Amino acid sequence: MLTGLNPYVVAGHFLLSSALITVAVVTWQRAREGDGAARALVGQPVRQLAWVLTAGSALLIAVGTMVTGAGPHAGDSAEVHRIPIDWKTVAQLHADLAWVVVALTLALWFVLRAVDAPAGPKARTRDLFLVLLAQGVIGYVQYFTHLPEVLVGLHMLGSALIWIGVLRVALSMRERPSEQPGIPGPAQSGSPLASTV
Ligand code: HEM
Repeated sequence: MLTGLNPYVVAGHFLLSSALITVAVVTWQRAREGDGAARALVGQPVRQLAWVLTAGSALLIAVGTMVTGAGPHAGDSAEVHRIPIDWKTVAQLHADLAWVVVALTLALWFVLRAVDAPAGPKARTRDLFLVLLAQGVIGYVQYFTHLPEVLVGLHMLGSALIWIGVLRVALSMRERPSEQPGIPGPAQSGSPLASTV
């Protein structure tokens, strides 16, 4: 892995990469929807739950970078300083936060069904739940098998996929229709269109 790097820089690099993913997902979403005013697809309490899920996931990822910073992969060189916190404690906090995020996702999915929300938000929340489960399995396996690099790499990929999934859930709570096109006026006589009607 990396050598001679400050663990805070490694953590900051991961978080900045997640910020870039945010820009990419929002841009992708904006490119495939209209420019009309945003219209909520679910009520405000449901949207608030989605924001709590987003904030909880951001915290989970941030604490994940602390686990790496305090553990053996924060630069992988004997001279590299580790973030001075107990690795087991922060890994436990990280795993607990993962369970909180899984519970919030499940709660959101049930609430969306209870309020008979459109198919989009329900499908995005289900997708996130499935990716979270896969990531949780990878997390526990890497924890109990002393962090093989290949699993740590997969765990980082999973984190990126989860953040994409969380953003897609938040963005699915509203839609932006196309702006109504202006009604065209009558074709001018002499216009090539006038003779084709
Ligand atoms: C399910 C949602 C989860 C997410 C989004 C997530 C995310 C992350 C992130 C972003 C990192 C830091 C990557 C880096 O800075 O290079 C990390 C590290 C880590 N995570 Fe998770 N994680 C999740 C679940 C879990 C679970 C359930 C465990 C079980 C204990 C776990 C164990 C670890 C460990 C041991 C590390 C440190 C790996 C290393 O040495 O680099 N994670 N996680």
